[in-house]
Amino acid sequence: MPAERWSHQKTELSDEQFNRWRNLLEDRTGMQLSTERKTFLETSLNIRMREIGCANYDAYYEKLTSGLAGEVEWATLVDRLTVQETSFFRHPNSFELVRQHCQRLYQEQARKHIELWSVGCATGEEAYSLAMVMDDLISELPDRRYYGITATDISLPALSKAREGVYNIRKLERVEPDFSQQYFESYDRGRCRVVPRLKDRVCFAQINVLDLRQAPIRNVDVVFCQNLLIYFQSWRKQDIVTQLAERLAPGGILVLGLGEVLDWQRPDMQRLPFRDTLAFVKRPHA
Ligand SMILES: C[S@@+](CC[C@H](N)C(=O)[O-])C[C@H]1O[C@@H](n2cnc3c(N)ncnc32)[C@H](O)[C@@H]1O
Repeated sequence: MPAERWSHQKTELSDEQFNRWRNLLEDRTGMQLSTERKTFLETSLNIRMREIGCANYDAYYEKLTSGLAGEVEWATLVDRLTVQETSFFRHPNSFELVRQHCQRLYQEQARKHIELWSVGCATGEEAYSLAMVMDDLISELPDRRYYGITATDISLPALSKAREGVYNIRKLERVEPDFSQQYFESYDRGRCRVVPRLKDRVCFAQINVLDLRQAPIRNVDVVFCQNLLIYFQSWRKQDIVTQLAERLAPGGILVLGLGEVLDWQRPDMQRLPFRDTLAFVKRPHA
């Protein structure tokens, strides 16, 4: 084991080093790191450097930016640097909006299948909340209807937790008792698991929103993207929101976090007036 692993002392990043790391993070994820988060960056880098026995910031930077080994290491580091805070039904009004919209698609447009996309899904709570809404909705309809959810994130460890679908029971606080009973089963002490009926409807995949142009997702009825773009520069937000809108089917909706994107508009997208939400509908004949 390298000696430096044991003698590793947390050192301060110089301004130049901080800018180099900050630029790397922004180029690869879109996330902007404010100066106030310098200590967070130092701590995260030091923990990881100690784990792999890397002597200093510059050596670690070189490692990360060279070759296949660098790419593998990046997959671990990015998980440590991104904010993955989430919860079930985090913004209830947005889920109510999705429910009402999908109800109209099933009932007024006699749609058999609805496709949804949770962008920046973290550990899966958002995607499973959408699944609960959809399962509950179709259970009320007289004939058989279907839905599918794609849930994507940049972080592989987060996606792997999402696929597992196992959560501490404290996370069910925001879930209606009726839904907790129907959609979760006890797993082990203090933890519960999403029932297969719901889990089978959600497909998790790694997609970096900076690479949306290559993402093979089209004709989605609901794009749900919250608490991801808040960390991005304004021009980048606008670009990503535009690309998300392009993935919508005519009549589909884009649900963002309230106040997350300002001054964004497109002729084929119309703002949806629904209480305390930020959502747009794609004009049916766009
Ligand atoms: C704060 S969580 C939001 C989770 C969920 N959408 C919610 O509102 O509760 C932000 C998520 O965005 C992901 N993320 C950050 N940069 C990303 C990128 N460039 N592409 C895709 N996902 C990204 C993070 O890994 C994290 O899981």
